[in-house]
Amino acid sequence: MVKVFLAGAGPGAPELLTLKTARLLACAEIVLHDSLVGPAILELIDRDAQIIDVGKRCGQASNAQTEICRLLVEAALTGKRVVRLKGGDPVIFGRLTEEMEALRQAGIAFEVVPGITAASAAAAALNVSLTQRQVSRSVHIITGHGAEYGLPAHNWTALALAGGTLAIYMGTKHLPGLVASLLAAGIDPQIPAIAIERATLPEQRILRADLAQMPETLARAAPTGPVLFLAGAALADR
Ligand SMILES: C[S@@+](CC[C@H](N)C(=O)[O-])C[C@H]1O[C@@H](n2cnc3c(N)ncnc32)[C@H](O)[C@@H]1O
Repeated sequence: MVKVFLAGAGPGAPELLTLKTARLLACAEIVLHDSLVGPAILELIDRDAQIIDVGKRCGQASNAQTEICRLLVEAALTGKRVVRLKGGDPVIFGRLTEEMEALRQAGIAFEVVPGITAASAAAAALNVSLTQRQVSRSVHIITGHGAEYGLPAHNWTALALAGGTLAIYMGTKHLPGLVASLLAAGIDPQIPAIAIERATLPEQRILRADLAQMPETLARAAPTGPVLFLAGAALADR
């Protein structure tokens, strides 16, 4: 029986794909990919494969995920070799659960292939360690938007007082509210913060500021690509 591969494309640079995902793309017959997956990675797909940009095709509508699941199952039922390619690591904010469930319900076998998540890639690009002995003992990967795309309902006090490194995904739109929530919960306004746009790609941009100043710094920079925010004492310049 043919198996669907739910694979991570990493942060953008093709060198950061796993060898396994690169091999899968080279012999795939159908690839369904997110809009985060760029041209340099799409070039690695077999020339004869059908490539479906589900980001473009399904758009931002609230039923988009249902439609992606439908397309995925439809592709799998053809019996062809199918790869569902997601930005970064599919297990981090990848809507993986919904797609695995759709495949399970259709009785289709699958395998998850990890990728490098944006936080790991960003830290490497910045030459920082997200954890640091006696400085940062935890990493908190959080989303910057909540249900209905409003501010997420995190336990801000726990995050502010944990003293670890925060990695905020999808935080551009609500950054002022996210930072205000952390400040109100007692986080040090002067902890170092970094915004990295299009990490690992040639257009990569890095912005540094104290956490309290980051919303203003970001607004001035007006990013157009994906941005990851990091904040915490481990990011201090040395
Ligand atoms: C829907 S989430 C997907 C995360 C992905 N599964 C991962 O593991 O990196 C999209 C968010 O990931 C972050 N992101 C992904 N790739 C990025 C990159 N190359 N540079 C900066 N941020 C990135 C941004 O915060 C973006 O809004």
